[in-house]
Amino acid sequence: MTTSLVTGANRGIGKEVAIQLGALGHHVLVGSRDAAKAAATVDAIASTRGRATALPLDIANPESVDRAVAQVENLGELDVLVNNAAITYDTWQSAINPDFEVVREALETNLFGTWQLTAALAPRLRASSHGRIVNVSSGAGALDDMGGRIPAYRVSKVSLNALTRMWAAELPGVLVNSVCPGWVATDMGGSGGRPVSDGAAGIVWAATLPDDGPTGGFFRDQQAIPW
Ligand SMILES: NC(=O)c1ccc[n+]([C@@H]2O[C@H](COP(=O)([O-])OP(=O)(O)OC[C@H]3O[C@@H](n4cnc5c(N)ncnc54)[C@H](OP(=O)(O)O)[C@@H]3O)[C@@H](O)[C@H]2O)c1
Repeated sequence: MTTSLVTGANRGIGKEVAIQLGALGHHVLVGSRDAAKAAATVDAIASTRGRATALPLDIANPESVDRAVAQVENLGELDVLVNNAAITYDTWQSAINPDFEVVREALETNLFGTWQLTAALAPRLRASSHGRIVNVSSGAGALDDMGGRIPAYRVSKVSLNALTRMWAAELPGVLVNSVCPGWVATDMGGSGGRPVSDGAAGIVWAATLPDDGPTGGFFRDQQAIPW
């Protein structure tokens, strides 16, 4: 059974990714800041072919990350890591005069939290014969058509994309990719976006790539997009 950890799996796109992976028969570790908040995801997966284990995990809290990694070590294996949790779509800010507290807080979660978790789990992912890392990124982090505003979020996603390239180079045998889910109707995305099922599908695709699949790429809806 493939074991997959999804961060921020208690709502939004992460919850849907967890449920879709469960439906494919994965053992899903439902990462959430609060195990109680993960209960609905765990219940939904339990009604599919999959298996679910709640994993208390605040990626911005180093002690919480350490505890979660220890729990994963106890479980013994990990094949897929979906780095989904993120905060602060700061449309109200400019890059030239931001509130640096907001920027720092966003980077603690979106960049450093994701980085620390992935570094700690890398040995487990390397040990898997089908290791996959999906960094849930955003077109807002594409340098190709980078505009102004949304500075904390944009910088965090540009940095995450850089880590995708570095981890892909440093982890032979593990397929590491960035995926933009498109504009999705969630608490972060607001109303008007597409359904979470559509946004999650491209992430699940990258999490379940065949062994000869791409690595070090940036995708939306299974298609490569410019960095
Ligand atoms: N929605 C869009 O249109 C869109 C577009 C492009 C990219 N994305 C990306 O897609 C991903 C999911 O976004 P979403 O729209 O589903 O966002 P969301 O509805 O705001 O959900 C964010 C999730 O991340 C979790 N989270 C935040 N900080 C955390 C932390 N420190 N530790 C653990 N979990 C934490 C939240 O948990 P709590 O419930 O505990 O807060 C929640 O489960 C993000 O990486 C986002 O940047 C979204």
